[in-house]
Amino acid sequence: MSSPDVTLVAILVDATATLGAVKSMPELEQVKAKYLGKSGSLTEQLKSLGKLPPEEKKTTGAAINEVKSQVETLINDAKTRIANAELASKLAAESIDVTLPGRNPGIGGLHPVTRALERIESLFATMGFSVADGPEIENDYYNFTALNTPPNHPARSMQDTFYLANSEHVLRTHTSPVQIRHMQAQAEKGGPPIRIICPGRVYRCDHDATHSPMFHQIEGLWVDEGISLADLKGTLTQFFRAFFERDDMQIRFRPSFFPFVEPGVEVDMEWENKGGKIKWLEIGGAGVVHPQVLRNGGIDPEKYSGFAFGMGLDRLAMLKYGVNDLRLFFENDMRFLSQFR
Ligand code: PHE
Repeated sequence: MSSPDVTLVAILVDATATLGAVKSMPELEQVKAKYLGKSGSLTEQLKSLGKLPPEEKKTTGAAINEVKSQVETLINDAKTRIANAELASKLAAESIDVTLPGRNPGIGGLHPVTRALERIESLFATMGFSVADGPEIENDYYNFTALNTPPNHPARSMQDTFYLANSEHVLRTHTSPVQIRHMQAQAEKGGPPIRIICPGRVYRCDHDATHSPMFHQIEGLWVDEGISLADLKGTLTQFFRAFFERDDMQIRFRPSFFPFVEPGVEVDMEWENKGGKIKWLEIGGAGVVHPQVLRNGGIDPEKYSGFAFGMGLDRLAMLKYGVNDLRLFFENDMRFLSQFR
């Protein structure tokens, strides 16, 4: 066997030439193993150290390590060179044609329910109504009890809802709790006049072509001295005529029951269907605010009276835009929605 020094020089010369010529990462791995792998030439040299006499061990060991670190440097250089070359060829291959026309991001539009709502809000604004808001996760008191519907009242089952487990909270079944919240807030500021609408999401255990477990209502509340059922009829008639752009449109009241109004009515609007046939369509509930509900809102029923109504917003949007299935509003199908852009 030749002397270690001669062998080391030979290894270094060989490594310099080989590593200078490698062209790919897999090739580099193979070359690396040739020197530094389990039975690589430098590894063999290190193993053979044990056979040397003690005085030679130190110097030879140092010489081997010196070559080893030079080979490692050569390997790193090769790695950088290969990586740069790969990047360069990738960039050359994936050139971008900057002259292509840009992709159209698509212009969004308002959801038909939002559109209907904006129209409704502006029509009520012309009659002096402002827009109020309330929580969708409502507590039992505001959703039911304050509206004359105490626990075990049979009217609760008309609005079977989603109760939150181990909690006093429900997903509100109607927008009527905003009546109480708003009256209480207004009572602190000196009381009526109150003239609000409150649009929002409500939730019930229902699901078919005309019912969705989540839907939208618009609540209305007008409280002042001397407000009566006649004001309700006038307000709603004016609203429907403006919303549907039909000056002769009629609405009618049918006696009905809601615990928080007295008297209570169901509101129907006259509707001409495609065949030209006139029908009455139920569009919401309404009535004169019950004195106890005024009291719960901190308002003196001896001095003030008012009316309230609750209408289905989705229903109004369906009629306005000729949509026959409520579920279309909530499926987010672009073929449907893009027609309203
Ligand atoms: N909150 C009632 C419902 O959802 C509707 C209503 C509102 C009735 C206001 C009377 C007064 O069924």
